[in-house]
Amino acid sequence: MVLRDRFTGKISAEAMVFMNSLRVDREMILEDIWLNQAHVLMLDKQGILSREDVGNILSALDDLMAEAMRGDFHLREELEDVHMNVENYVTERVGDAGGKMHTARSRNDQVVTDIKMKLREEILKIVERLIVLDRTLLDLAENSKSRVMPGYTHLQHAQPITLGFWASSYAGMFLRDIERLFDSYSLVNSSPLGACALAGTSFPIDRKFTARLLGFDSLQENALDAVSSRDFILESLSSLAILISNLSRLSEELVLWSTREFSLLEMPDEFSAGSSIMPQKKNPDLAELIRGSTGRIYGNLIQGLTAVKGLPSGYNRDLQEDRSLLWDSFRVVNSSVEIMNGILNRVKWNEPRMLALVEEDFSCATELANFLVMKEGLAFRKAHSVTGRVVKELVSRGKNFKDIDSVKDILKKEGAELSGKELKTLLNPRKAVSASRSLGSTSPAEVGRVAKSMKAELAAKEKFLKEKREGIDSARKMTEKLVREIV
Ligand code: ARG
Repeated sequence: MVLRDRFTGKISAEAMVFMNSLRVDREMILEDIWLNQAHVLMLDKQGILSREDVGNILSALDDLMAEAMRGDFHLREELEDVHMNVENYVTERVGDAGGKMHTARSRNDQVVTDIKMKLREEILKIVERLIVLDRTLLDLAENSKSRVMPGYTHLQHAQPITLGFWASSYAGMFLRDIERLFDSYSLVNSSPLGACALAGTSFPIDRKFTARLLGFDSLQENALDAVSSRDFILESLSSLAILISNLSRLSEELVLWSTREFSLLEMPDEFSAGSSIMPQKKNPDLAELIRGSTGRIYGNLIQGLTAVKGLPSGYNRDLQEDRSLLWDSFRVVNSSVEIMNGILNRVKWNEPRMLALVEEDFSCATELANFLVMKEGLAFRKAHSVTGRVVKELVSRGKNFKDIDSVKDILKKEGAELSGKELKTLLNPRKAVSASRSLGSTSPAEVGRVAKSMKAELAAKEKFLKEKREGIDSARKMTEKLVREIV
């Protein structure tokens, strides 16, 4: 075993297994090879290694990159982690020169750099999926801006809204999730490489050069901070936790609305499950699984926060836990976003039922009270009382707002004379919806305007995403070009 010359005894087999981190860092193999290329190119530029050694190391890394990309590289468990596996591969190929690769570097800055490189890709991947989901919601908003349905508060009928209005409310939430993820991205894409173990190095390294070759937008300067900190992971985990809380609310709503009691929608066959005993059942398992995985994503955040809370500064091995949380959260949330998009694309909305529900309730009561304020000059509180009594009387007669004559009659006793025509307009949920024209309200015109502006924001996010990817890509090409100049 390497790294043990100051020891007398051998490490125990159990300890080896316990320390091993391949489980969580094997996914960073390509990043680690790229990092090694950039580091060695920097050692070459700074005259720290001879051109001959550099050439040998880079050509071994070339072979390794090809093997790893084909999925042929077998990581050896006894080598503890991905970094030692890469170094070992190079050393086996080129002998002593391989050992020079680790000049002016530590696994402490190496591991955190690898994580950041992998994590930025994960963030971009999930943003890409969120953009797709958000477009689905905004398409629904645009083509459902006149489909009237009950709007709820406390899960009780409150005021009529449209399905499009509802859909654009979720679109707004996911748009903020995208923003949060991009905010996390900027802290992630800052290079810790060159921090070495904790204190920097006496070798004349060029940190800015490696940062550029690896596609980082900035440098995380303080070396001790760079190797000690994982707040960038916590921020990403928390962005994911907030994102899945939104997905979970949406899932819950779909589950509820697909019940016979609500019957506002039918779940798509492609995203529903059957029962092992009750042949008639069609269960919303997919939405339930999204809702159900939420606790796990919160758990990953809490675990991450707890892992760092008592750590003294500098690298501590506790930090090895960070990746399992990250990769797990990204995997689960990524597929949840994709599944949600699948559900929303195929769900069948029960438009007649939505309308019937609001036609047979008292959802337009606020409109009636508003009318009494605007046309009869009542104070709103007074109008609220009058309307409240109208509703009470209708309930006692077993009627609702559909019965215009009763409403007219009761209002008259309250001293408000409204014509049948006025009431028909006022108590028509479609008209109530169109009348709500304040900024950001449920009227079809506002829903259309807001959806259009959100689509424009999405296009801007997509452009930003593309620029980020191009930035990473061109850094990769630059590294490749410099390698080619030597090998
Ligand atoms: N496998 C380690 C990790 O994943 C790499 C860093 C090891 N550093 C150390 N000082 N032992 O965190």
